[in-house]
Amino acid sequence: MIIPEILRVRSYELLKRNRRQAGELSYTVPSPTMYPYQWLWDSCFHAIVLTHFEPEEAKQEILSLLSRQFNNGMIPHMIYWDDHAFESTRRLKIDWGKTGTSSITQPPMIAYAIWRIFQKDGDMLFLKKIYPNLFHFYKYLLNERDPHERHLIGILNPDESGEDNSPRFDTLLDLPPTHTEEINYQKRMKLVEENKQCNFDAPFCMKNFFWVKDVPFNAIMVENLRCLSHIAEKLGHEYDAQYFNTEAERIATSMRALMDGGGLYLSTYGEDYRKIKVKTWAIFAPLFAKLLSQDEARVLVDKYLLDPKFFLANYSVPTVSRDEPSYNPEGFWRGPTWIASNWFIYKGLLQYGFTAEAQKIKDSSISLIEKSGFREQFNPETGEGLGAHDFTWGTLIVDMEES
Ligand code: GLC
Repeated sequence: MIIPEILRVRSYELLKRNRRQAGELSYTVPSPTMYPYQWLWDSCFHAIVLTHFEPEEAKQEILSLLSRQFNNGMIPHMIYWDDHAFESTRRLKIDWGKTGTSSITQPPMIAYAIWRIFQKDGDMLFLKKIYPNLFHFYKYLLNERDPHERHLIGILNPDESGEDNSPRFDTLLDLPPTHTEEINYQKRMKLVEENKQCNFDAPFCMKNFFWVKDVPFNAIMVENLRCLSHIAEKLGHEYDAQYFNTEAERIATSMRALMDGGGLYLSTYGEDYRKIKVKTWAIFAPLFAKLLSQDEARVLVDKYLLDPKFFLANYSVPTVSRDEPSYNPEGFWRGPTWIASNWFIYKGLLQYGFTAEAQKIKDSSISLIEKSGFREQFNPETGEGLGAHDFTWGTLIVDMEES
């Protein structure tokens, strides 16, 4: 299916409607009612889509994110530009121990987004301007999030994965496979309090409270370090280009050694890198960074993506395998299809030349938006829209292109 022109237009209109001014800069809110702030990986998605319409606005998304980078290099996952925008959901009421931003980060998609912008308009001045920030951010992740030097990047809170309530984090939060959102929230709040006590000092917080080496976060890191290496090369920083490329390959090697459980990549936790044996869409994230061989990828796709016992649903791809006890087609990150995870899988499939399978993901994403509009998530069995309205991630369908 080709993206109908009307959906392209509606995507662009939604991004424009959700655009907000922050002084000289602008950014886009994921949803005006439910998510009225700026989020890190959301803004990277917006920038990627905006390269199709307005590269200058894509740069604004990046510049507004970078304007609140911490001194240690971390880019916070939330920026509260508008204090009065506060609204509805309790999820937003989390106090991250700081004013103006949160104190944690999110999957590092920013180098990828910047590289996409550069491929569109070749603006060297922009690259030059943002390079020191990028360098600092990825160095922070490499230095602070890998205290054992095992070449895997750790997260200190489930929200850093971007998949707040995913069952991947149940064991560590001491939660059974089924539980209410309320209980999940309480557990996560307790963790935030612990994070605050250790002042969000990453090595300390990870050692003592919550330390997951998550598959999507690390796969995203690998692919982004490769983009960063290209950026450094463009700018003539040959040493950096070599360095970031080497780090990317080190993480890739470590992922193969420590996460691969017989063709299924699983997130690990704790000092001894124990595997978290829950099948979520994360098993497909390694495709995005081309970590699997062609044969391994074929097996993964045939055995899991295309099997209705696991991830094939009427409206694929559910974020949790349908055979998992935690699978709930309406549970936040516990089953529903999200367009961003579909986008990662789509791009991953193309890395292997699996065009027909990628097309299916694209078709399923388009039909979800056609059926239920720009909603936050969708019931994979019925296609019914769930969560926030006017949610921007659906616009990623514009970036589902085969070439
Ligand atoms: C939810 C999602 C997170 C996203 C945020 C804003 O918290 O879990 O990934 O960044 O909403 O859209």
